[in-house]
Formats: sequence, structure tokens, C-alpha cells
Amino acid sequence: MSLLRFGSILLLLLFGQTLGAPRSFSVDYQNDCFRRDGQEFRYISGSIHYSRIPRVYWKDRLLKMYMAGLNAIQTYIPWNYHEESPGRYNFGGDRDVEYFLKLAQDIGLVVILRPGPYICAEWDMGGLPAWLLNKKDIVLRSSDSDYIAAVDKWMGKLLPMMKPYLYQNGGPIITVQVENEYGSYFACDYNYMRHLSKLFRSHLGKEVVLFTTDGAGLNYLKCGSIQGLYATVDFGPGGNVNSEFYTGWLDHWGSGHSVVSSAKVAKSLNEMLAMGANVNLYMFIGGTNFGYWNGANTPYSSQPTSYDYDAPLTEAGDLTEKYFAIREVIQMYHKIPEGPIPPTTPKYAYGTVGMKKLQTISDALETLSFSGPVKSMYPQTFIELNQAFGYVLYRTSLPVNCSTPTPLSSPLNGVHDRAYVSVDGVAVGIFERNQAITVKVTGKAGSQVDILVENMGRINYGKDINDIKGLVSNLTLGKDVLTGWTMYSLSIDEAVSQGLLGETKPTDPPQPAALSLPAFYEGSFIIPGGIPALPQDTYIQLPKWRKGQVWINGFNLGRYWPTRGPQVTLFVPANILSTAAPNNVTVLELEEAPCSSGPCSVEFTATPILNATVQSNDKQHQHRQDMRQWDPVNWHK
Ligand SMILES: *[C@@H]1O[C@H](CO)[C@@H](O)[C@H](O)[C@H]1NC(C)=O
Ligand SMILES: *[C@@H]1O[C@H](CO)[C@@H](O)[C@H](O)[C@H]1NC(C)=O
Ligand SMILES: *[C@@H]1O[C@H](CO)[C@@H](O)[C@H](O)[C@H]1NC(C)=O
Ligand SMILES: *[C@@H]1O[C@H](CO)[C@@H](O)[C@H](O)[C@H]1NC(C)=O
Repeated sequence: MSLLRFGSILLLLLFGQTLGAPRSFSVDYQNDCFRRDGQEFRYISGSIHYSRIPRVYWKDRLLKMYMAGLNAIQTYIPWNYHEESPGRYNFGGDRDVEYFLKLAQDIGLVVILRPGPYICAEWDMGGLPAWLLNKKDIVLRSSDSDYIAAVDKWMGKLLPMMKPYLYQNGGPIITVQVENEYGSYFACDYNYMRHLSKLFRSHLGKEVVLFTTDGAGLNYLKCGSIQGLYATVDFGPGGNVNSEFYTGWLDHWGSGHSVVSSAKVAKSLNEMLAMGANVNLYMFIGGTNFGYWNGANTPYSSQPTSYDYDAPLTEAGDLTEKYFAIREVIQMYHKIPEGPIPPTTPKYAYGTVGMKKLQTISDALETLSFSGPVKSMYPQTFIELNQAFGYVLYRTSLPVNCSTPTPLSSPLNGVHDRAYVSVDGVAVGIFERNQAITVKVTGKAGSQVDILVENMGRINYGKDINDIKGLVSNLTLGKDVLTGWTMYSLSIDEAVSQGLLGETKPTDPPQPAALSLPAFYEGSFIIPGGIPALPQDTYIQLPKWRKGQVWINGFNLGRYWPTRGPQVTLFVPANILSTAAPNNVTVLELEEAPCSSGPCSVEFTATPILNATVQSNDKQHQHRQDMRQWDPVNWHK
């Protein structure tokens, strides 16, 4: 009843006939098995997403997978990671998927490729580029002509690039997935699936094994599968299916950290291998949602920066008890490679780093708004402002005197997703999608109202993936619709990496406040000399900071939100650190930094904390509890 998206093990059910040629990979329907170069082949695979791991660590992680006894990996290709604006492709550095495939092959792993176009994956918008939403009423994942045109163009770029890496052509790719769990999507558009399978065939050739994956239930298969493609089924927890087939589970801000015991995973794996099944462990290593790449689920609940997943290899690639338990099981069925397992990489606690305040967002507007302000009567969305990720500042003024607290509201729940409100430079409240739609304001007519809106990640699963960001409906003050907006797209990442942020204007020492203006803070630290093994990986922790975004040497590590939890530390890979110059830490704190009431610092530690007690307010907490009890089939991995 439930799906691979539960981080489960993929079980391929096979039916078919044999092909036997040199360097061939096919399905033997008669004997219910795969054949590689004519020989019966069974894969024991693990999921790894290259987009969540720094390139320098790909080899280490792949080798650890190989040493666990896996003979295959499964990976997604996130379209929006490679085509951030239409026609501008990026396959360099951390996005060099060809290099990733070569490494896998060199190590001895075959590859199950899941190129989408939609991937889900707890990735922003399920991997679809936000610019598709330029067409307001686009029906994603369907025969919508604009959608299809964009897909055709993207696949016309990607698939020819993948073709040399197909097994038949000398590469590691044994099978290619078409779409992803389409059966659970409302559109149920057969023409779309037919179009995709033709498109994949035309670029990849007729020999490649194409497959679809859907939930194990007739309803899912009905829309997801199509003639000529192998229909596979995935299993997860719940319903009438074994609930122990996944290695771990995803987290959401404000919900407890998910954990699955090694014993359960080992037991399920053993059962599946005993059945002779082809197996994929989702995830074998989860990794990190660096920057703004995390997705969200419905009702709106976004995923944290860490995608640790309680997988056999941790977010930082560390070997776990689960890793060895899985290896033990595989060993009973397959010869495990000889040789040492690459060790867990050492972590270093660089200690406390003092931070000083820089400009607030409003002080730095000139610097941050590369394209200058846009004016309009009613608010425009991120997409209308040509911005995909991050933050936009919306500015207007009070049309009337508000001598008593007056409700500033988003009656249609149109603040996507969180917004920090100030009046004449004083922070007054926070909007949060589905949680807080009113902020009380006071002030004279003409007072400046600033609303900094944060995109917390687009919904990656279900019918709400057209997830428009910004102020997506009007705000009201009392009964009146607010008008006369000035909007600033903010190029914060560029400003941080180019060191453009200035110091704060000297003012009176800040008073401890419940809330202060969103502002930048900066500090630096030097890697100690005389220790040849440095730099090493580390974790950054922001005790008493509330919510924001953090960069090291201009690299966007992701969001922190220790007041919501469960994630407390952020993984800092060694490759972004420098021994040649002081390392620069930049923090954008959105709510209130501890700097006015105590030590203004961040800490680098050697141990991750991903499972803090969730400290949300009662309403929030209740809401999460309810969500956790909902049918998990409607959720996503
Ligand atoms: C706001 O109040 C001031 C006096 O405090 C008055 O002069 C002004 O006309 C009022 N403005 C509006 C728009 O009501
Ligand atoms: C805001 O209200 C105006 C007037 O009713 C309407 O024309 C406009 O479409 C609304 N804008 C949004 C984003 O809802
Ligand atoms: C940190 O910032 C300083 C001052 O801008 C610069 O000289 C230094 O190179 C930066 N460090 C790194 C590692 O980029
Ligand atoms: C968090 O995880 C650590 C390490 O697994 C464990 O020792 C600790 O008890 C956990 N804390 C909570 C609050 O669950």
C-alpha cells in the first residue's frame, strides 16, 4: 500500500524474456530475473543523491557503499539543479553528474538512474524548475504544451549526455526510470507517460530497460504504469505491507527526529534477499540540503537542512551500526569485497567564534537588491519578480493612523512561507503559512511597513507542487486591502560571497527584545596550525540564535532553526574551509540574535545533534502531532 517514497526498499517484480549479447542488460521474463551479459543478475542497491554530497566526498561514499556489499546505486537527477534558468545548464563541480557516474563505474557499481523529469526526493518542487510557474496555470507532470516543451528541451540535453553511460554502451547505467510514482499524482495523464517513454526511447535507444515505480496497489499502478515499460512496485510502512523496509525516514521542522532501528532494517533486508528480490535501500546515505534545496510537504511543512535520514551512512558519511548490520546480512548472500572499509572521516571542534553585527536587511537594501525595486499596486510573487529562492522584501506604508493595535492580515493564508514584519524600523511580528496570518500593528499614517518574506522550500509531492512563493494574495489592514507596494528581490548569496555587506551604523547598545530586525552577523576563525590533518569536517551550532541562514566563506550551508528543531547542528564539510586565510562565517538572523543579552557567538563542534526535543508552541506542536498520525501514504519521503 505504500511507497518507495517512504525510503523503502524497491522490489522489482519481473516478467519477461532473455536477450543475450556481449555487454547487455535485459529482463528475463520467463525466469523472473535480470540478465547482465547473459548471466542472471540480482542487484542490491542503495540510494545516494550526488546533489546532497560535496563532489570531493563522492568517491568516499561510493566506496563505502561498495564495501558494504552493494553492487548497485540509485540516484536522482534534479532538473532544477542543472537548469536554474531556462536554457542555462550547469554540470560543473558539485553538479558534474557524468563524473559521479564514472566514479561509480570505476568502483564497480552499476547505476539505476532516475532522471525524472519529476523526482520528488524531498527536493525543492520535486526537482522541477520554479521557472515553469511563469505560466500561471501550467499543469505540471501532464501533457500541458508548455510543460512538455520544457521537458523535451531538457531531456534533449540530458539524455544524449547519459547515453554513453548506458550499460550497453560501456557505462554503468543498467536501468532508467521514467517519471516517478506517477500513479499517485492526480493528473493521471496517459498521454504524458506515453510521450515520456517515447522521448526516453528516442534518445536512449531501444535496448535500454526503462521502468516505472509505483505504490503497491492497483490504483497506483493504473496511472503510473504503461505498456512497454517495466512496472515496479515499492514497499514501505503501513497498510498491509511490511513496515520495516526503509532504512530511515525524513524529518520536518517542528516534528521529532525519525529513527528506524538497525535490527528492523536488517531483518527486512534478510527477508527480501531470501526471496531472491532485487533490492534498493532508500537512503543508503542521505546527505545535506545545502542552500535552499529542501522541499516541503502538505499541509505545508518544510524539511530541514539535514537529510541524514537515519541512513546506514550518516549525513557526514560516517559508518554506523546500521551499516555493519546491513553488511552482515548481505554477506550471507553475496561475497563481500576484500579490503579495508574507508574509515569515518575525523571531525574537529574548532570552538567558539565571536560574531559582530553587520547591517540589517533594510540598511543593506541598496547592496542586496541588484536589480532595483519593482513597484506595483498589489504584491507580486517571487516568480513575477524573477526570483526563485531565498528572500524578497515587500515594502508599503500604513494608509491610516493605527493608534490602537490594528490587524495586518493575510486572510487567504497567502504568505508563502514565513515573513518578518516591521513598522518604521521596529520588528512587530511574524507571519507563518498555515500558522499565523495576522500581526497587530500600530503607527501613524505613512509609517513604513517592511515585510521580509522567506521561501522555505517548495512542496515536492502531491497536487500542490505549483507552490508559488512570496505574498501570493493581498494583505489587509483592518478591512482595507493594502496597496502601493515596492518590492526588492534580494541577491543575498551574491552579496555574501562578494563580501559586500557593511557594518552596522553606530547606535545605542541594542536592548534585549522579543524580536529584532532581520540582520547579518559576521565572525571568522583560523584553522589551528601544526595539525597536518586539518582542515577536517565539523558541525556549526548556533546556541540561542533563533532562525536564519548561514554561510561559510560564501558557501550557503542552509537554514538553522534550533528553536523549532529537531535539527540543531549543520554539517560543515572540510572542503569549504581554508587553512590559508581566516574562515568567514556569515549569519542572517531573522528573529533575534543573542547578541544583545549575552555572548554573541557560534560554535564548531565535533558531534552532530539532529534529534533535539522539539520546542514548538502548543498549537504548532498539536498540528505536527496530527500530521504524524495522518495516513503516511499521502506524505512523501
Ligand atoms: C493621523 O493623525 C494625525 C494627528 O495625530 C492627523 O493630523 C492626520 O490627519 C491623521 N491622518 C490620517 C490619514 O487619518
Ligand atoms: C488584490 O486585490 C485586487 C483588488 O480586489 C485584485 O484585483 C488583485 O487580483 C488581488 N491580488 C492578489 C495577488 O490577490
Ligand atoms: C575572509 O574574508 C577576508 C576579508 O574579506 C578575506 O581576506 C579572506 O580571504 C576570506 N577568507 C576566505 C577563506 O575566503
Ligand atoms: C539523540 O541521539 C543521541 C545519539 O544517538 C542519543 O544519545 C540521545 O539520547 C538522543 N536524544 C534524544 C532527545 O532523543
